[in-house]
Amino acid sequence: AIERTFSIIKPDAVAKNHIGAIYNRFESAGLKIIASKMVHLSKEQAEGFYAEHSARPFFGALVSFMTSGPVMVQVLEGENAVLANREIMGATNPAEAARGTLRADYAASIDENAVHGSDAVESAAREIAYFFSAEEVCPRTR
Ligand code: CMP
Repeated sequence: AIERTFSIIKPDAVAKNHIGAIYNRFESAGLKIIASKMVHLSKEQAEGFYAEHSARPFFGALVSFMTSGPVMVQVLEGENAVLANREIMGATNPAEAARGTLRADYAASIDENAVHGSDAVESAAREIAYFFSAEEVCPRTR
């Protein structure tokens, strides 16, 4: 089915000038970018976005990293988009990420791992709404 997923290019990958290379991976895989913007997250925005991880030992480092510089946030649309994007990204820990995935090619560590992607259609809807108003999402008919 055609799905939407939410994606973040994290501060490490933005700082290393990998935005275009990463967008090329999405588009080459047939995913369409239907919303996109650059944001420098506040502490409150990052804490809210990652609220489900608030009890984890890495939460403080995660929020600190995600607010360390601008990120690109985007909505990707396409066939099986949630799983397709997870395959493009590779495993959370770049040491375990398959060859040719974004994390294998661009991530330095599990903390600074280049990209985020929704893990399910339900979390995608919540994450998209966290960053984009309905008018900012532009469904593509061609
Ligand atoms: P992300 O998909 O953005 O969701 C939470 C982030 O926490 C994750 O990517 C990792 O970058 C980071 N993180 C750090 N340590 C861990 C861990 N042990 N397990 C999962 N995520 C971790």
